[in-house]
Amino acid sequence: MTLPPAYSVRNLNFYYGRSQALDDISMEVQQNQVTALIGPSGCGKSTFLRCLNRMNDTIQNTHLEGQVLLNGVDIYSDTVDVVDLRQRVGMVFQKPNPFPQSIFDNVAFGPRVLGMVKDKSELEETVENSLKRAALWEDVSSNLHKDALSLTLGQQQRLCIARVLATKPSVILMDESTSALDPIATLRIEDLIQELKQDYTIVIVTHNMQQAARVSDYTGLFWLGKLVEFSLTTEIFTRPSQELTESYITGKMG
Ligand SMILES: Nc1ncnc2c1ncn2[C@@H]1O[C@H](COP(=O)(O)OP(=O)(O)OP(=O)(O)O)[C@@H](O)[C@H]1O
Ligand SMILES: [Mg+2]
Repeated sequence: MTLPPAYSVRNLNFYYGRSQALDDISMEVQQNQVTALIGPSGCGKSTFLRCLNRMNDTIQNTHLEGQVLLNGVDIYSDTVDVVDLRQRVGMVFQKPNPFPQSIFDNVAFGPRVLGMVKDKSELEETVENSLKRAALWEDVSSNLHKDALSLTLGQQQRLCIARVLATKPSVILMDESTSALDPIATLRIEDLIQELKQDYTIVIVTHNMQQAARVSDYTGLFWLGKLVEFSLTTEIFTRPSQELTESYITGKMG
C-alpha cells in the first residue's frame, strides 16, 4: 500500500536577506518513513527543516518562494494557523533543551498551553503515554516531580521527544538530535526513531553517515543550498547516481 506523501515541497527557494540559502528544492517526504538530510556544514539542511514547520518565520528579513504542502495543504497559505501547524509538526533540537521544571511539567507543557486535556487525569495519562512512547517511563515513573535538568543528556533528549509527542504531532523534525550524546544514548534514540515511524513521519538532519544509513528510509544530500540527490537510503549508500554523493558519503569531500 502506498500512502500519499506527508510533504510535497515544490521549487522551494529561501533567502536570508539577499543571500539565497535554498535553491529550487523539490522533494516528497513519505508518511511513516524516516527521511535523512545530509550534507556539509552550511549547505541548508537546518534551513530546509525549519521551512517544514515555518520556524524560519521567526527570523527577520527572510523570504521564501515555492510551495510546501503538508497533506496537500500549502503551509504558507494565509489561512494556515501557525500555532496549529507547530503542534502538528514537532521539533527536537541538537542540544536537549528541557525547561528548568519537573519532568511532569515539561511533558505537560504543550497539552496545557494548547488546552488539549479536559482534566488532571487526562493530563496524567497523556504524560505517562508520552514518556512511554519516548522510552523514558521506566527511568522516571517513580520520580516525575524531579527536576528535568537532573536527568542525563540522553534522558533529557528523550524527555524533549516526549514533550513533542504529548502535543500529538504527525511529523517530528530532528536537527542533529543525537550529536550532543554519547554512543549508547545515540543508539537508544536511533531505536526510538525506528519505533516511532510506525505512527509518525520523521525527518532528521545528521552529520553521521552511519546514522543516516542505519535509521532512514530515504536520504537527501544537500550541497550549497541545492538538493543534489534524493533517493532510497539503500540506493544512496550503495549506488548513488551522482559523483558528488559518492564522494561525500565516502568522505572524500565535505
Ligand atoms: N539566521 C540566519 N541568518 C542569516 N543566514 C543564515 C541564518 N541561518 C543560516 N544562515 C545561512 O544559511 C546557509 C545555510 O545554513 P544552515 O544552517 O541551513 O546550514 P546547515 O546545513 O544546517 O549547516 P550545519 O551542518 O552547520 O548545521 C548558511 O550559509 C548560513 O550561514
Ligand atoms: Mg544545521
